[in-house]
Amino acid sequence: METMRKLFLPAETPRVLLITGGSSGIGRATALLFAALGDCVTVIGRRADRLTALAQEAEAQGLPGTILPIPADVTDAEAMRRAVALTLAQFNRLDVLVANAGVGQRGPLVEAPWSDIETVLRTNIDGIIHSVRAAVPAMRAGGGGHIVLVSSVLGPVPGPYVAAYSASKAAVDALGRALRGELRADRIHVTVLWVGQAHTEFAEKRLGQPGRVASKWPTMTPEQVAGGIARALERKPRTMTLRWQDSLLVWAGRRFPTLTDRLLARIYR
Ligand SMILES: NC(=O)c1ccc[n+]([C@@H]2O[C@H](COP(=O)([O-])OP(=O)(O)OC[C@H]3O[C@@H](n4cnc5c(N)ncnc54)[C@H](OP(=O)(O)O)[C@@H]3O)[C@@H](O)[C@H]2O)c1
Repeated sequence: METMRKLFLPAETPRVLLITGGSSGIGRATALLFAALGDCVTVIGRRADRLTALAQEAEAQGLPGTILPIPADVTDAEAMRRAVALTLAQFNRLDVLVANAGVGQRGPLVEAPWSDIETVLRTNIDGIIHSVRAAVPAMRAGGGGHIVLVSSVLGPVPGPYVAAYSASKAAVDALGRALRGELRADRIHVTVLWVGQAHTEFAEKRLGQPGRVASKWPTMTPEQVAGGIARALERKPRTMTLRWQDSLLVWAGRRFPTLTDRLLARIYR
C-alpha cells in the first residue's frame, strides 16, 4: 500500500468517494488506497463486521483519510439513497462513485437454477442502477463528479458457460455508454473498467461453480485494480483495461469472435 500511495498524488482537497462492495477484494483495496491518499470514503456492503473492521484498519494504520462504513444492499434502492444521505451528512458532498459490488455465476445457462441467474442480474445490473440513481443528484448539487462502473472483460467479450454474468456486465457497459451522454452536461464523467481475472473472494463466492479459476490466465491483485481506478480518476477514459492481456482479449473478441468463443469455452467449460 505504501508503494501504491507513492504512485498517486493526493488530491488538492480531499475527495469524497462512495465505493460499493467495499467489504472485500477490489472495493476494499480501493477504499484503503484512497484513504491512504487522504480522501473520505464511504464503503457499502452487506457484511457490517467487515466494513467496520476496514474502517478500524485504516485508523490503526494512521491513514490520513476517513472510511465511513455503511451496511447496505445495492439491490435496495432506498438503502442506497440512505447511504448517499449519510455520506452527505458526514462529508458534505459526493465526488466519486465506484460502482463495484458484484457476484459471478458459472455453468450452462439452461441448467442453472433461476435463483442464481436472478441474483447475478439483480446485483450486477439493478445494483449499478440504484447506485447511480442515488449518487447523481448529490454529484449534480456539487457541480460534477466521476462514476467508475466496474465491469469485466466478459462484458465486451461474452463467454460460454458464463452467459448470465457476461450479459450482466454487457449491461453495465451499455449503461456506462448511455449515461456518459446523459450526464455530460452535469460535468459527471463515466468510466467503464474492463477488469480481468483478479485474486479476490470472487471465485469462492461465485454461484454455480465456486472456487474454479482460469489457472493459465494471469491474475491481478486487488491493489493493482485499485491503482487502475485511481488512474481512471486522473485520466477520465471512457473505457479502460488494466493489462495488455485484457486489451488483447477485448480486441480479439471484436475482430475474431469465433476464436475467442473457442478460447473462452475451453477456459470456462
Ligand atoms: N475478481 C475477478 O476476477 C473479477 C474480474 C472481473 C470483474 N470483477 C468485478 O469486480 C467487482 C468486485 O469483485 P471482487 O473481485 O472484489 O469480488 P469480491 O471480493 O467477492 O467482492 C465483491 C463485493 O461485492 C459486495 N456485494 C455483493 N453483493 C452485494 C449486494 N447485494 N449489496 C452490496 N454489496 C454486495 C460484497 O460485499 P458483501 O458480501 O459484504 O455484501 C463484496 O464486498 C465485481 O463487480 C466483479 O464482477 C472481478
